[in-house]
Amino acid sequence: MLEIGKFDSDTDALKQRINTHDKFGTYDLNEWIFNHMDVVQGQRVLDLGCGTGKQSLPLAKLVGEKGQIFSVDIWQKSLDELQQTAIRLALPQIQTTQSDLDELDQNVKGEFDRILSSYSIYYIKKPLHVFQAIHSLVRSGGLFFFCGPSRFNNLEIKQFHYGLRKEEVPPPNWSDTFIEDIGVPLTQSLFNSFEVFRFENPLRFDSADGLYKYWSSYNLYDESLDEKFKQGANAYFENNSVFTTVKRVIGVKAMKS
Ligand SMILES: C[S@@+](CC[C@H](N)C(=O)[O-])C[C@H]1O[C@@H](n2cnc3c(N)ncnc32)[C@H](O)[C@@H]1O
Repeated sequence: MLEIGKFDSDTDALKQRINTHDKFGTYDLNEWIFNHMDVVQGQRVLDLGCGTGKQSLPLAKLVGEKGQIFSVDIWQKSLDELQQTAIRLALPQIQTTQSDLDELDQNVKGEFDRILSSYSIYYIKKPLHVFQAIHSLVRSGGLFFFCGPSRFNNLEIKQFHYGLRKEEVPPPNWSDTFIEDIGVPLTQSLFNSFEVFRFENPLRFDSADGLYKYWSSYNLYDESLDEKFKQGANAYFENNSVFTTVKRVIGVKAMKS
């Protein structure tokens, strides 16, 4: 099971990772997510593991003034930042709630047209309990979309990292297998129908510094390897102009009739 660590919740590390994806990514993750969510004006949307609002903020624009966004995260600092941004952008339709997703059934009530969990569902410790809670929060005719890494996510940077230690890349961890091995079967057992989507987003780095910044904000980071990584990245860019690692994303659209 995945323990929540600094790089999973820390607001600054999260912002740095998002900036990297925006700067070096080839495609836009949000565009892909929203294409599968069919959000329209006036809807109530629940955003689970919202962080600083990468999806909540644009979703607020999609649902408009008559819609509502309920943004949930375990980390109050990220919620405070989201709330400040919502005020600055005049998006009063965003409300935040601090909750562990494992306690969603106690902290969030009502029915939602759309529920989203982007890169957060694999932090849960009680999958059946949480999926049942989510299922009961989706209104009839509504949907739950969740996405995150798939098995071979970021294989290239993992090979680089473990190569510095002269080790093989270990088998995929809990977060890289959760959606395929746990999320899909639970969806199948609880929802009326579902579809699985895949998305590949190459991140292209053109300098050792850019590559280092990404690695050091990612949960692969290992302080004891810091100097070696910098040297390895410099050596790599002496002979190459680009380092590419591919974000391999899997998304599940679960429908309740
Ligand atoms: C990788 S970020 C994803 C943020 C945003 N949804 C995105 O796609 O950029 C994961 C978020 O899940 C939150 N989180 C982690 N474990 C959680 C839990 N057990 N309950 C609620 N939120 C959690 C973290 O605080 C963090 O904001």
